[in-house]
Amino acid sequence: MRVFLTGASGHIASALIPEMIGAGHTVVGLVRSDQAAAKAESLGAEVHLGDLSDLDGLAAAAAKADGVVHLAFDHQRQSGGDLEGAVGADLAAVQTIGAALAGSGKPFVGTNATGGIALAGFQGVLTEDVSLAGGPRIDAENAVLALAGQDVRASVVRLPPAVHGNGGYGFVSGLIEIARAAGSAGYLGEGGNRWGATALEDASRAYRLALESARAGSRIHAVAEAGIAMRDIAETIGHRLGVPTAAVTAEDAATRFGFLTPFVSMDNPVSSRSTRETLGWAPSRPGLIAALESDPLLTPSPR
Ligand SMILES: NC(=O)c1ccc[n+]([C@@H]2O[C@H](COP(=O)([O-])OP(=O)(O)OC[C@H]3O[C@@H](n4cnc5c(N)ncnc54)[C@H](OP(=O)(O)O)[C@@H]3O)[C@@H](O)[C@H]2O)c1
Repeated sequence: MRVFLTGASGHIASALIPEMIGAGHTVVGLVRSDQAAAKAESLGAEVHLGDLSDLDGLAAAAAKADGVVHLAFDHQRQSGGDLEGAVGADLAAVQTIGAALAGSGKPFVGTNATGGIALAGFQGVLTEDVSLAGGPRIDAENAVLALAGQDVRASVVRLPPAVHGNGGYGFVSGLIEIARAAGSAGYLGEGGNRWGATALEDASRAYRLALESARAGSRIHAVAEAGIAMRDIAETIGHRLGVPTAAVTAEDAATRFGFLTPFVSMDNPVSSRSTRETLGWAPSRPGLIAALESDPLLTPSPR
């Protein structure tokens, strides 16, 4: 398949491009700078220069492809306080790609974050059949899945907060930076609230399987570890950085965790049973704690 991939210079793409090429697909990656182009090309992708806001360019690239995987999300805009802008740009992009694919029978794999569903009010173990009426990023998920009714083999991969590999840990990378700066690794309250996790290679395999064979309208949980207590994550970070681990009070949370505060507060356990059964997805890489424990770059900060 000739696959149009947005977010081709990002963390997930660093494993997904080799995964797709290894399976015989050709990847055309959306990039918005020469630096991003060099990154995607070094992994074997062709590039399409453009921005998520260039809707005509997105539509043209999607129409030329046999399938689309949408990873791009403006995290800089999110962490800078403009979540609404980042979410709006994402929704416009999926609507544009969807319109270009309507009636084609081609696959379109979108992306959502399990954490956003917890933050939108869902409580308990998130399963693939749970959908919410709306909310940040949930509107884009619903827009992608609605394309199943327009002859698009549309699916959405939901990722946990910690996708780890190639030197990155998703939101856990943010916790590591914060712990280095603060001189202690923090968690909120008792730290019993949980985040799911998945190794990058396993997450990439889930995307490829979705592209190749997901049923139209399916939600895919690329979540290998259902829920790791935040206290365990903090203790591992503290151990690796050589700093103490400490509970942070609710009053100090925003100062300590910044835009990550709602995520650090949430309990987000996730089941991936249906994904494993329907796609034959079998994650095999070491878990988050083992990855943190064995990362040679995680060393005590100089004092
Ligand atoms: N990694 C995780 O643990 C994790 C967890 C949950 C959900 N997710 C979701 O998975 C997807 C991929 O995540 P990631 O970790 O690969 O993200 P990432 O490393 O931050 O990469 C984001 C990608 O999107 C591109 N991008 C951002 N704004 C753009 C714009 N306006 N126009 C064109 N491209 C733009 C970036 O390009 P530049 O290189 O030019 O900035 C980059 O290629 C995202 O939707 C993310 O929210 C990831």
